[in-house]
Amino acid sequence: MGHELSKVDHIIESYGHNREALIQILLDVQREYGWLSKPVLVRISERLGIPSNHIYHMTTFYEYFNLVPQGRHSVSVCLGTACHIRGAIRLLDRISQAIGVKPGQTTPDQKFTLSTVNCLGCCALGPVMVVDGEYRSNPNTKEIEKIVAGCE
Ligand code: FES
Repeated sequence: MGHELSKVDHIIESYGHNREALIQILLDVQREYGWLSKPVLVRISERLGIPSNHIYHMTTFYEYFNLVPQGRHSVSVCLGTACHIRGAIRLLDRISQAIGVKPGQTTPDQKFTLSTVNCLGCCALGPVMVVDGEYRSNPNTKEIEKIVAGCE
């Protein structure tokens, strides 16, 4: 862990310990580790002299911060209005069944993280599933199983 935290220190140093750069620092740290663990957040708090509850608030306020480890493959389902009307909840249920976790969770083998998003701008394809950035229009159970099996 000591080694890991030195990367955090390095990132903070690159911003000259500037508190105003907190969001940018958090983003860089997340890019480095894939998520923001508690020891990492505490370290940032100590190094910048910003109370940890303030940092915690920031990370929960912005959707793009991950406070749990992320799987190797990201799977998301659009729950925007158009997709919702076209059956996004049923699609989400099918995917959830296939990989065995609920939205916001990562499988125990760290293979998949399931999340939901709002309107991807391709409503005509809805409901939409996105696997590692690739859009899939309303896959049925068999197709979902095939997609999941195809992920290493
Ligand atoms: S609502 Fe899902 S892509 Fe627009």
